[in-house]
Amino acid sequence: MTWLITGGAGYIGAHVVRAMTEAGEPAVVYDDLSTGVAERVPDGVPLVVGSTLDGDRVARALTDHGITGVVHLAAKKQVGESVELPLHYYRENVEGLRVLLEAVTAAQVRSFVFSSSAAVYGMPDVDLVTEETPCLPMSPYGETKLAGEWLVRATGRATGLSTASLRYFNVAGAATPELADTGVFNLVPMVFEKLTDNAPPRVFGADYPTPDGTCVRDYIHVVDLAEAHVTAARALQTSPGHDLTLNIGRGEGVSVREMIDRINAITGYDRPPTVTPRRPGDPARVVASADRIATELGWKARYGVDDMIASAWAGWVRLHPQAARS
Ligand code: WQD
Repeated sequence: MTWLITGGAGYIGAHVVRAMTEAGEPAVVYDDLSTGVAERVPDGVPLVVGSTLDGDRVARALTDHGITGVVHLAAKKQVGESVELPLHYYRENVEGLRVLLEAVTAAQVRSFVFSSSAAVYGMPDVDLVTEETPCLPMSPYGETKLAGEWLVRATGRATGLSTASLRYFNVAGAATPELADTGVFNLVPMVFEKLTDNAPPRVFGADYPTPDGTCVRDYIHVVDLAEAHVTAARALQTSPGHDLTLNIGRGEGVSVREMIDRINAITGYDRPPTVTPRRPGDPARVVASADRIATELGWKARYGVDDMIASAWAGWVRLHPQAARS
């Protein structure tokens, strides 16, 4: 079994590559390097530079490397940008997937793991989001992930391709400082940036119907997330005919205020946050039920938010040494 990991030079993709190779699963990376970084691909793992929109190039990569399974992470992932550039997001995330699936089915690849998102749920009005909670995405980004799931499932049903769509909740942390996320688009790096600039971290709204008034999310360590991919990939490989849709979270809600408190404590800062108005479109609470993957695949997250923050901070300090506190 050899796995093609699309987007394997990205933040999450590189962690998936690391987990797959550590588990003894041979991997090949396919990445257009638009946001990915070649240095993230470990020695000994082939890197094919190309877009999933380039069907000929994908087809050649599949045959050249004798690929039998694909883990597809290559995508655009900024919610705000997707509102400005919906056509770009549909092209990259939906058309890119359709072209890839054409090549995958023609090459008789047997297994396909798709990187989906809790963004498919939109503003879920439930305590714990199960895979049966209705999907009502609130952004073009979330729509492309939901359409992607439909494409993947329909292809599996029509061709016998074994499929799994993994709905990631809020990903944070790093396996090593070198693999840390370099983007500043999510809560943890945005707070790091404020602390580094000697400015107060911002809480986007403290009047939500939650225990401390700030939004509650389910944060998942990227190392746990990567291991969930290995578990899903192996399940598809060992018992074909799967059509899985799985939440990847911890089932534990953490508020923005709690996260900022932990970040201050772990980084050695003592900067109380300032409350700013709500960010439009933010749901009050999004927390996974992680029961289905535990029951069906026996997978459970191992790390908590302190590990996520400490490992993300090690990566941040590597790039911003002036941020370190003794
Ligand atoms: C978390 C909470 C903010 C920064 C997004 C996508 C989702 C997925 C993950 C891709 C929110 C608050 C943030 C700050 C704050 N992406 N916040 N101050 O919005 O839950 O999820 O990323 O698949 O689809 O929507 O993540 O990290 O941006 O925000 O108060 O400086 O932190 O308002 O409540 P979000 P986030």
